[in-house]
Amino acid sequence: MRLGVLKEGRTAERRVAVVPDSVKRLAAKKIEIVVEAGAGIKAFASDADYEKEGAKVVSSSGEVLASADVIMRVQVPSLDEVCQLGEGKVLVAPLVPLVNHDLVKALASRRVTALAVDAIPRTTLAQMMDVLSSQATVAGYYAVVLAASSLPRLFPMLITAAGTLAPATLLVLGAGVAGLSAIGTGRRLGARVEAFDVRKVAKEQVESLGAKFVEVDASEDAETAGGYAKEVSEAYKQKQSEALARHVARADAVVCTALIPGKRAPVLVTEDMVASMKPGSVIVDLAAEQGGNCALTEAGKTVVKHGVTIVGAENLPSQVTVHASQMWSRNMEKFLFHVSKGGELQLHDTDEIVRGCLITQGGEIVSDRVREVLGLAKLEKPAKKDEPGEPAKAAATATKGGAA
Ligand code: NAI
Repeated sequence: MRLGVLKEGRTAERRVAVVPDSVKRLAAKKIEIVVEAGAGIKAFASDADYEKEGAKVVSSSGEVLASADVIMRVQVPSLDEVCQLGEGKVLVAPLVPLVNHDLVKALASRRVTALAVDAIPRTTLAQMMDVLSSQATVAGYYAVVLAASSLPRLFPMLITAAGTLAPATLLVLGAGVAGLSAIGTGRRLGARVEAFDVRKVAKEQVESLGAKFVEVDASEDAETAGGYAKEVSEAYKQKQSEALARHVARADAVVCTALIPGKRAPVLVTEDMVASMKPGSVIVDLAAEQGGNCALTEAGKTVVKHGVTIVGAENLPSQVTVHASQMWSRNMEKFLFHVSKGGELQLHDTDEIVRGCLITQGGEIVSDRVREVLGLAKLEKPAKKDEPGEPAKAAATATKGGAA
């Protein structure tokens, strides 16, 4: 198998899908790497670094696309990028397939085999391949670093000759992967950390990191069978809002990470709550791209409202390009090792990871969940078993989790 690594299309993207460190481990499994010149430069990986590890560096994306069987990307590809993929190529990238319908249809019509890395099931087996988790870990960390660097106060308690300084209070909304990473980072910086989540199971995780869990006086637990959050009732929202108002008002920094798969992010911090905060306080909203957890968030911008700095954070992992790329690349090594043997791609429909993330193949949309969203009947077509990488048929069972 030859794996192609391209420069990312969006100029703001600094990560690269495969770092030089992965090249030898991939080669040991008969996976060769061809890299577009400059693909790793923003992640501080030079062409020489790739060549030293045994990758082939070529001067244009066209050469990568012509010679590689499998193309890997960090960003959701544009329609134009999909149109450059030849028939039978394999694309391994985030696709958000339940939302990006035109993209999925284009991939099918180009007869591309598309594997959505954001639809890899969130199971123990797939943990090592889970780019959503690795990148959320980086985002949570960096959100706190941003909050600390924007706050006109110190995070830790300091006892100095110039007096004692009280620690900053950090409130983290949403205690999933990014939220837990933010809590850990806030604690390491010495802040007093509080956190809230609608999933009751999160309480123990929050407390194990030394933070205080914000309780809402309600019996509702908004966890789905897949481990994700679902929307809560109006009555719960009211109680949640009353509880949060007190905690937001006394927080120096708020990091927002609350998301509900496939929905607009819940608005947890209202304008009144922002107005109640001390001037100079900071909100870093990781949910900005999904509409924001703060009513005043503007995606991609930092604004000051009621004296509070509100950061509409977008693509924070890209800012920590070296480690974010390294983690992505490691996740993708594990994924490729799982779906290949002797350097050949093997996509078995009995495999729950393949079933979760295989979206298009052989000119068809083969993901049951995507077909359902598009209003298409379930695919019953039997497989051509002699074709490498061709599944027996589209998956019959939906996998647990997988935010897609
Ligand atoms: P996410 O990014 O979809 O959401 C972030 C957090 O926001 C979640 O904890 C969610 O409960 C919370 N949230 C949603 N609505 C909220 C509201 N109104 N108020 C406060 N908080 C709210 O979640 P993420 O980080 O992707 O993780 C979701 C779940 O996936 C985890 O709890 C875990 O069960 C599962 N998971 C499993 C893995 C594995 O087994 N390998 C790996 C990673 C995650």
